[in-house]
Amino acid sequence: MTTPVTAIQSVRLDDNNDILVLLDQTLLPNEKVFLQLSTLEDIWEAIYHLKVRGAPAIGIAAAYGIYLSVKRSNAASYAELADQFRKAKQYLASSRPTAVNLFWALQRMEDRLHQEADQSVAVIKQALKEEADNIRAEDEKVCLAIGEHALSLLEPGWGLLTHCNAGTIATAKYGTALAPIYLGQERNYQFSVYADETRPLLQGARLTAWELQEAGVDVTLICDNMASIVMKEGKVQAVLVGCDRVAANGDTANKIGTSGLAVLAKHYGIPFYVCAPLSTIDQGCTSGADIPIELRSKEEISTQWYEKPMAPQGVKIYNPAFDVTDHHLITAIITEKGIAYAPFDESLSRLLQKEN
Ligand code: MRU
Repeated sequence: MTTPVTAIQSVRLDDNNDILVLLDQTLLPNEKVFLQLSTLEDIWEAIYHLKVRGAPAIGIAAAYGIYLSVKRSNAASYAELADQFRKAKQYLASSRPTAVNLFWALQRMEDRLHQEADQSVAVIKQALKEEADNIRAEDEKVCLAIGEHALSLLEPGWGLLTHCNAGTIATAKYGTALAPIYLGQERNYQFSVYADETRPLLQGARLTAWELQEAGVDVTLICDNMASIVMKEGKVQAVLVGCDRVAANGDTANKIGTSGLAVLAKHYGIPFYVCAPLSTIDQGCTSGADIPIELRSKEEISTQWYEKPMAPQGVKIYNPAFDVTDHHLITAIITEKGIAYAPFDESLSRLLQKEN
C-alpha cells in the first residue's frame, strides 16, 4: 500500500525534536528526498532555494527553525535568550520577502517568547516548541476548512485550472487551492484539473501535476501560454489559486503569471477564486502596491535548471517571482472562516474579526 500524497509531511520535526525534516521540493518529481537540517543557515538556504516553498510551509519551517536555534542556545537569562531570538528572527525574515506567512509565523513565535518572559529558559524553550507545533497543526485545520468552503462553490464534473503549487506539500496538509480538489476526489466529484507548468521554476509541472497524479486526480499539464485556449474551448469552469499575501483591499500577490490568468478568466466569464488562510491577509498593506515583490536570479530564466543555456549569454533578464492580481478581477477570496466577496476591505475585515 503506497502512502497517500496528502499524508506526506513536507515540513516536520524529527522524533527527538532536534532536526527539521524537509521534503526537498527542488528534486520532485524525480526523487523524494527528505533533508535533515539543524542550523539556521541551512534552514535559511532551504527557504531561499525553494527546497521548502509555498507560503504556509515557509512559515512553518521558519517557526521550527527559530525554535531549534533557541533550543541550542546556552543563554542563562530571558534577556540573553530574547537577544539571540531577535537576531535569528531577523536573519530568517531576510530569506524571502513576499509570502507574509514567514513574517506572521516569526512574529507569533516572538509574541509567545514575550508571554513566557517570567519563566525559566527551559520552560521558554518548551513553549516555543509548542507554539511551532500549534502553527503546524492549525494550518492543517485551516486548509481543510478552506477546502470545504471552496468545494461549496464547485460542481461535480467541472474543469478547474490552477497555477503554481498550492497543494499539500506547500502547507501542513491538503494545500489551499488544491484542498477542494482532494475533498472532491474523496466525494467522487470527478474534476478535470489543468495545471499550468508555471515558468520559470515549474512548480505546476513538477509539484502540482505530481501531487494530483499521485492522488489519482484527472490532471492535465499545460504550458502557461495555453491557459487562454483551454478556457476558450470551454474546458475550465473555475480558476483556483493560492496566494502569498493579500492586501486589505483584496489585491493578491501570488506566483508570477497569476494576474494574467485572472485577466483571461474575466474575459471568458470564468470565476477566479483565491484560496487564502487568514494568516496570508496583511492589513498593513493597503493595496497591492505595498506588497514587496521578490526578484530572483536571472539564471532561473536563462538556463534549464542552472545547467544548459536557454538564452543568449549576457541578455538582459527581469525575473519577478510574484505578481499582484487586482481585486476587481477576483470573484471571491476563500478563507477558513468563510468566503469573502467584494468589497473585500469590508468582507476581509469581518472574517478577520470573526470568532471561531
Ligand atoms: O515561489 P513559491 O513556489 O514559494 O510560490 C508559491 C506560490 O505562489 C503559492 O501559490 C502560494 O505560496 C500559496 S501555497 C499554499
